[in-house]
Amino acid sequence: MTVLLSAEGLRRSFRLPRRSLCGPRGERHAVRDVGVTVTAGRHLGIVGESGAGKSTLLRLLLALDRPDAGTVRYRGRAVEGRRPTWFREAVQVVLQDPMSSLNPRSVVRDIVAEPLECLKVPGDHDSRVAEVLAAVGLGPDAAWRYPHEFSGGQRQRIAIARALAPRPEVLVADEPFSALDASVRAQVIDLVRDLAARFGMTLVLVSHDLAVVRRLCEEVIVLKDGEVAERGDTADVLRRPRHPYTRALLAAVPRLPGAAS
Ligand SMILES: Nc1ncnc2c1ncn2[C@@H]1O[C@H](COP(=O)(O)OP(=O)(O)OP(=O)(O)O)[C@@H](O)[C@H]1O
Ligand SMILES: [Mg+2]
Repeated sequence: MTVLLSAEGLRRSFRLPRRSLCGPRGERHAVRDVGVTVTAGRHLGIVGESGAGKSTLLRLLLALDRPDAGTVRYRGRAVEGRRPTWFREAVQVVLQDPMSSLNPRSVVRDIVAEPLECLKVPGDHDSRVAEVLAAVGLGPDAAWRYPHEFSGGQRQRIAIARALAPRPEVLVADEPFSALDASVRAQVIDLVRDLAARFGMTLVLVSHDLAVVRRLCEEVIVLKDGEVAERGDTADVLRRPRHPYTRALLAAVPRLPGAAS
């Protein structure tokens, strides 16, 4: 099995503001000694309650933030500095809120072509834009409209099209479905699953929602207070949660209709 994204011993802490004028500054250990292995074709879910360190871990894996300790690798090669081009070609990202991640003053064509231009991908960008817009279920006329002319679900489709454009091997997403209405949520979840299969992408998905991870991810990491509470096959972990924290998370989650148990 091919290991794509991996990390060992990741740590990241943040200084807290002083409580009093001459008191000591505390530290919040947002991520402590976390290792991650993303294998090609095995989608990974990262779950945990709010503040567990999911987004911090994701930012480290994306090289958007530097760890205090530990290394992130892609296909065995250390990712150093701020997001080298070869790494951005391979790993693309979709964030929670499409409205704030899409430039309101650009038309969709320019938004979706942006990674191709930044990464100097050769070839006809207009035809690639049309291809990925079609892949996410948007017509060619979408290319000349602005983000505010779309619904929330369509905007998230645009963000997904942009991430697909440079043909990444790994698609990383931080709560990509949680800002969506329940009615379009299930459609976008299925779309992401189908696109991953069609384009051979491996997903790394942060979610506080175990039902989403159950639906999409073969493997799961459960984070608690910045540490790995439990990890393994999603089916095994969710069927026989060993850690009381995972049991508590499971008990708090309503099931998606049609989700396998
Ligand atoms: N830039 C920062 N400065 C200070 N503290 C931070 C910073 N980023 C994160 N933290 C702290 O680190 C901890 C983990 O935060 P993180 O955003 O990774 O959690 P999360 O699991 O993504 O939560 P949520 O589900 O609410 O998004 C929290 O206690 C948070 O307050
Ligand atoms: Mg978060």
